[in-house]
Amino acid sequence: MDRIDPLGDLRRGEYCGKLRASDVGRELVLCGWVQRRRDHGGVIFVDLRDRTGIAQVVFKPDTAPAAHARAESLRSEFVLAVRGRVEARAPDAANPNLPTGEVELLADEVRILNTASTPPFPIEDDIEIDEEVRLRHRVHDLRRPCMQRSLELRHRLLQSVRRTCTELGLLEIETPNLTRATPEGARDLLVPSRLQPGSFYALPQSPQLIKQMLMAAGFDAYFQIVRCFRDEDGRSDRQLEFTQIDLELSFVGVDEILELLEEITVRGFRETLGVELERPFPRLSFAEAMARFGSDRPDTRIQLEIVDLSDVLAGSGFKVFSGAIASGGVVRALPVHDADSLTRGDLDRFESEAKNWGARGLAWVRVAADGSWQSPIAKFLSDAEREKIAERSSLRPGSLVFFGADREPVVCKVLGRLREALGARLERFDGRAWDPLFVVDFPLFKEDEQGQLSYMHMPFVAPLEEDIELISSEPLRVRATHYDLVLNGVELGSGSLRNHRSSVQLEILEALGYSEAKARDRFGFLLDALDAGAPPHGGFAFGFDRMSLLIAGGDSLREVIAFPKTQRMQDLIMDAPSRIDPEQLQELGLRVRLPRGEPK
Ligand code: AMO
Ligand code: AMP
Repeated sequence: MDRIDPLGDLRRGEYCGKLRASDVGRELVLCGWVQRRRDHGGVIFVDLRDRTGIAQVVFKPDTAPAAHARAESLRSEFVLAVRGRVEARAPDAANPNLPTGEVELLADEVRILNTASTPPFPIEDDIEIDEEVRLRHRVHDLRRPCMQRSLELRHRLLQSVRRTCTELGLLEIETPNLTRATPEGARDLLVPSRLQPGSFYALPQSPQLIKQMLMAAGFDAYFQIVRCFRDEDGRSDRQLEFTQIDLELSFVGVDEILELLEEITVRGFRETLGVELERPFPRLSFAEAMARFGSDRPDTRIQLEIVDLSDVLAGSGFKVFSGAIASGGVVRALPVHDADSLTRGDLDRFESEAKNWGARGLAWVRVAADGSWQSPIAKFLSDAEREKIAERSSLRPGSLVFFGADREPVVCKVLGRLREALGARLERFDGRAWDPLFVVDFPLFKEDEQGQLSYMHMPFVAPLEEDIELISSEPLRVRATHYDLVLNGVELGSGSLRNHRSSVQLEILEALGYSEAKARDRFGFLLDALDAGAPPHGGFAFGFDRMSLLIAGGDSLREVIAFPKTQRMQDLIMDAPSRIDPEQLQELGLRVRLPRGEPK
């Protein structure tokens, strides 16, 4: 057998991390990597690691001299197969911190399956290593127990979702990766065509239109675990390529879809963490989420809420407030009680943060122990205004209240982010570990920065039936069937009912500035599919990496993706993106013109 494969007759009998007292007496083989070798005057101890954990292996010169001699040459990360007998450790030698700590393997025979270069950092959980170094040495990084655990949890979640969708009758259907650009909001990643020089495929930002075509084709209920590509700027919650659990159903309304999403989420948490999420998930309207929490993905565990003061301050002598309202804006406040730990320096820092988020300032009032107001703006407010502010914000000694005066979206953004920052800083969480909720009743359209009508999510979302007649006359009042699933302040995914009648779809595209000819040119294939007799349909996509991150814990999607891109969207292991050969360029009919200053 030795000549057939490197293991010879040393076949693994157990995973290292699985050894228990009940295994005492077993003769078996362990395989793994050397975590650590300790020489104790004659006896050599080796911590052997595999993906399940660590077992202690003991080499004694008197019982197995050859194995002991070989063990002297072992270094970190060498790859071994060790045969031996599981023995109980003496009580004073047991390690209560290790699941395998009551036992050890007394080695008879060891085979060095491979040597290893010196690891760039210790293969341990708590290391302070620059992320770039970790990504460059990803093979070592992935050997760390926390990474092994994260990717295993991700696997379990993936299987759970696949099982649930299959059991509920959804068909898993694959869709192409080489497609045509569609508007999903981000930049496309493009692939040049060799056979049609000058033409490009776009990698899908999501299979949105294709899955709608599957509904038109009668598949009724579809899901796919699908890679999506968006040329976004690097952020901790965004990747260039990421995974969606994409689904779409026919002949359903919003309620049936939300129920399915609950089922997938609840079972996912149960089957990975053993956590039972409470059902039904609360539903919050977009308007309420923005008004109370300043965000369409609120973390409702934070016990701080925004209050509106526009009616109170419309006629204020303080022009920052009355001026904002006169020009169509709002004045809102974020009261924080028992805020004595925030210093004047903190308030200045919050103000400069607020300016980074787009605010023009961040007025505040602090209520001293004697009830007096300390504030740069108190002198501009009348007694009546002060009384109303105090009443609506439930002010008491020790309270602090921040004000935002501007256009409504700016005030929501600033006070929403301030709420999150203060929630974390002052630990104002209500103690719940999880707060799943649906945000519903989004508007269909919004005005962009230039005041142009634009879509809130994408142009294929269906309006509420009763609002269809408003599309051309009062588009900003049109309510959409769109919904988001939010968990702990993270947008886990979003979806909607879609336009299944081409007439309504065309009307929306026209409101967005597409002539019928241009709409048919860009989306003719979709309009034709709708005209072929598309059923009413709707769906959703989970951001699967985000869902995995919430379950595994961590700050960055890079913790739950085996080979992620860096902030600058580079793959440091394979060194991508990279330059290509001139011949390849020529074959594709491409010529590269580098921006000024780029090295040739
Ligand atoms: P949307 O664009 O909202 O909807 O995407 C759905 C979910 O995907 C996740 N996500 C991302 N995750 C990591 N990196 C990214 N760059 C990234 N971009 C998005 C988010 C988001 O909520 N076709 C529609 C879905 C539908 O209506 O069915 C869509 O793609 O968690
Ligand atoms: P100013 O009149 O610009 O000196 O501002 C007086 C106070 O009002 C300062 O504390 C500013 O931070 C605050 N302030 C200015 N503009 C705004 C605004 N748009 N919203 C909230 N506070 C503001």
